Amino acid sequence: MNTNTPENPPATPAAAQAPASVNTPEAPAAVSPQTQAALASAAHAPNSPGATHIRSFVHRRGHITQGQQAALERLMDQWSIPYAPRRLDPAAAFGREAPTVLEIGFGMGETTEKIALARPGDNFLGVEVFNAGVGSLLRRIEDSNIQNLRIVQHDAVEVVRDMIAPDSLAGVHVYFPDPWPKKRHHKRRLLQPAFVSLLASRIAPGGYIHCATDWEDYAVQMLEVLSNEPLLANTEDGYAPRPDYRPPTKFETRGLRLGHGVWDLIFKRVA
Ligand SMILES: C[S@@+](CC[C@H](N)C(=O)[O-])C[C@H]1O[C@@H](n2cnc3c(N)ncnc32)[C@H](O)[C@@H]1O
Repeated sequence: MNTNTPENPPATPAAAQAPASVNTPEAPAAVSPQTQAALASAAHAPNSPGATHIRSFVHRRGHITQGQQAALERLMDQWSIPYAPRRLDPAAAFGREAPTVLEIGFGMGETTEKIALARPGDNFLGVEVFNAGVGSLLRRIEDSNIQNLRIVQHDAVEVVRDMIAPDSLAGVHVYFPDPWPKKRHHKRRLLQPAFVSLLASRIAPGGYIHCATDWEDYAVQMLEVLSNEPLLANTEDGYAPRPDYRPPTKFETRGLRLGHGVWDLIFKRVA
């Protein structure tokens, strides 16, 4: 999670900020070109050629622990898939055929780790831009010996558009996306009609999209946008109870402490 961003974005757009090759003062020594490329793209998320969308995140140098940085350097090649503007073959990426669930914006990865461990029969593809979060989840993968999880460190909009085949996902998880609470920043919210429509097209008929937020007006927006997408049907009459497979997240716990509610939404892809 960007501790810096959604509530106080910088005056300059992300692309205009000072480029950084990595998110720490010293560049890592002796990492492979692939890791170096992944670290570099993570640090400033360069626009892909032809990118026209408004980013749902803003990068700034943030704190990263030594352990997270070390995990990035050591484990990135093993568990991450570099972004590329071509379709991903999940069977090759995971080394098996299994239902694939995409998670967008896993933050520090606590929930991702728990769900991947609880559902060993599913493949999980976690997408996150934040260096410390990716380092954190890489450590969890190693510490918990998780085999069914891969990471793409890139803008999820481009990952979904370019790497995910139509009608292919068993599920999509979007838990506590950055709320961008100021009205003038609502355009940065991830769950807008165009992106939801793209996401819905990537879910297999019968698959699901599960979103959660602790911001009431974002919940209202999500319900409206998901309900208006013709490829999706609500599994509930309005909001859903939190299903057992989703443990409470750090953001949720914080939100509850601040007196926010929590809203889950679960929609199915229609045929
Ligand atoms: C508020 S945090 C929530 C993290 C986690 N899901 C949780 O519940 O604790 C939102 C996360 O989404 C990530 N994010 C925002 N826009 C993204 C995008 N377009 N692609 C990938 N990650 C994104 C941010 O970096 C941040 O870590």
